Amino acid sequence: MRILKHLFLNNQRWAEGIKSKDPEFFIKLSTLQSPDYLWIGCSDSRVPANEVVGLLPGELFVHRNVANVVIHTDLNCLSVIQYAVEILKVKHIIVCGHYGCGGVKAAMENKELGLIDNWLRNIKDIYQRHSSRLDNIEDLHERLNLLCELNVLEQAKNICHSSIVQNTWRRGQELNVHCWIYNLREGLLKDLGRSFTCQKQIPEIYVLRESKSIAGKRNFIRGVKGAVL
Ligand code: CO
Repeated sequence: MRILKHLFLNNQRWAEGIKSKDPEFFIKLSTLQSPDYLWIGCSDSRVPANEVVGLLPGELFVHRNVANVVIHTDLNCLSVIQYAVEILKVKHIIVCGHYGCGGVKAAMENKELGLIDNWLRNIKDIYQRHSSRLDNIEDLHERLNLLCELNVLEQAKNICHSSIVQNTWRRGQELNVHCWIYNLREGLLKDLGRSFTCQKQIPEIYVLRESKSIAGKRNFIRGVKGAVL
């Protein structure tokens, strides 16, 4: 059995390095996390979230999957968003894709790959939605990079369409959803210039308004809590 000793040695050095600057760092962090940011990025090993933005442990809540996809039936991703927004009260959700993404590239092709085809199907839908623009680009590399950008934008929209984010905005809680992309060859981030900050920015069909029965239940619960207290 290989026990990956070198990784434990790396870990010891890393922990010592941080403790040499702040001896109480890990003790303080063990009792509380209060990050301002949720990062939703690709699983690609070349895009390490904390390192890319120079943040320490405790400063960035992270969810990563193949091609930074956000789907309204993905309980894993939705649970991360809910926890980040409702409990940690992050102020920013950053969707960060990267140019040359293998997942996005696979979605542009027609090879059957197995289980992951079901995941990549979401990106094929995005391609189809923007096909007139994408098909006009002859250079496949450029076409891939545009699809990587469009994928970030569409996933950010999916986040905004969720009941979690809409409820957050309706409560008046500050929440900004950002669209970023990372350049593997330069190590640099680019802001795609689109961000979402309120419910008014989403198309009417996705807008969720609180129904009377839910509002009634909330008021009832508040009343019961008040009576007990
Ligand atoms: Co990727």
